[in-house]
Amino acid sequence: MQICIISGSPKGEKSVTLQYVRFLEEAFPDHTFTVLHAGREIQALERQEEAWDGLLATVEECDGVLWATPVYVMLVPAQLKRFIELIGERNAAGVFSGKYAACLTTSIRFFDHTAHAYLHGICDDLGMRYVGFCSAHMEDLRSEAFQEQLIFFFSDFLEAIVERRPVQRVFPPLPAIEPSYAPTSPPVPVDTRGKRVAILHDGEPGSGLAAMVDGLAACCAGPVQVAHIRDAGMKGGCLGCCRCAFENTCVYDDGFSAFWEEYVVPADILVMAGTIRDRFLSAAWKQFFDRSFSNGHVPAFEGKQIGYLVEGPLGHLSNLREVLTDLATMEGANLAGIVTDESGETGAALHALAERSVRLADRGYIAPPTFPAVAGHKIFRDEIWGGMRAIFKADDRYYRQHGLYDFPTRDYPKRIVTRVTSLAMSIPAVRRDVVKNMPDYMVQPLQKSIESSRVLAERKKRR
Ligand SMILES: Cc1cc2nc3c(=O)[nH]c(=O)nc-3n(C[C@H](O)[C@H](O)[C@H](O)COP(=O)(O)O)c2cc1C
Repeated sequence: MQICIISGSPKGEKSVTLQYVRFLEEAFPDHTFTVLHAGREIQALERQEEAWDGLLATVEECDGVLWATPVYVMLVPAQLKRFIELIGERNAAGVFSGKYAACLTTSIRFFDHTAHAYLHGICDDLGMRYVGFCSAHMEDLRSEAFQEQLIFFFSDFLEAIVERRPVQRVFPPLPAIEPSYAPTSPPVPVDTRGKRVAILHDGEPGSGLAAMVDGLAACCAGPVQVAHIRDAGMKGGCLGCCRCAFENTCVYDDGFSAFWEEYVVPADILVMAGTIRDRFLSAAWKQFFDRSFSNGHVPAFEGKQIGYLVEGPLGHLSNLREVLTDLATMEGANLAGIVTDESGETGAALHALAERSVRLADRGYIAPPTFPAVAGHKIFRDEIWGGMRAIFKADDRYYRQHGLYDFPTRDYPKRIVTRVTSLAMSIPAVRRDVVKNMPDYMVQPLQKSIESSRVLAERKKRR
């Protein structure tokens, strides 16, 4: 069979993900693999009709499509995102429709699930028959156990094609975007109390998004920095070269870093505004997020209030909401809110976002992390300490200085208590008592905090 590989990595042949494809190519010599470097060649695909037509012809002839891509910032690289946008803009979905599809990613398995959900949704939108995915850690190919699983995964894909297995759509089609926000009466501005507010957006003048950005800026009585991300003057997407790892300095010599320093770093309240394109924000926003990888794994939004303005059907895109939410919390920020133009209450929601952001910034409130940020921290901590620190020097320094290598094995007092408790459990009478009074033992250590809560609350009020 003819298998078409749509490679998303900007690194082309040097892509880690592509090595997994090469492994499959060797393992399945009876099938033909054609690699289309959608990520590496995005500029040519965008500008040269020939390149685009050639790619479509290859897809047209194939029996199945394997999307093979790294995970970049919780999704696919901006270059592949742009490629997917081009399919829509150029009405090329028909070429993909009816083809069997599967997805293979490499990553460190940090938000690989959101990348896969995105690709699955895209396959559904293109009318492809999505068979399944394989999410590999970037080093998995060294393990024979994984190699076996990869072979099973690909065999299953091939069999699905041969047997013409039925496939059900999982992600329902998105409703068309109906711009619903029209600013009416001028809002009562919120006193920003000296907080620095920055709104970054990619809305064109006259667009619904631009109206939301203006609407939010008008809700603020203090100065607000408003900037189009185009003004960052990015020369291109992240190249995935990881040369930034040593000093968190990107190889690109363009305006991104100055833009970041001017708008993102000083902001107490940072609002990012974008329009939904396919199942995410635009490729331009994705490029902005990817380029921020040059900050390494340092929490880049620490202590900030983050807000989003989203034009489009966010209510139908729980995956996008998850990425936006966790992007903020993973970076050490508080998610002040997300405003969309889906309901008729956008104006009121903008005002509420301004008010809430200032109030929470004033109080220094950062919501305790939930599972994704807790798990994300542990993945980064273990990956950086477990090997990446040899190259990611800036991360290593930051993790040491900020106590982020917080392995439980380093909590010696707790280890001693655990050991003693564990030994005590071998005494039958003690064990019987613990079993009988388990709920009491669980709440007992919290009593001291409750006793001191009034004092703490009074102290906070006086501040
Ligand atoms: C810009 C950038 C962003 C990344 N974001 C993620 C991420 O969100 N989650 C993850 O698990 N790995 C992430 N990684 C790690 C890559 O997914 C991993 O190194 C992958 O194997 C690279 O594959 P490639 O060589 O095919 O491009 C990122 C790497 C880069 C360069």
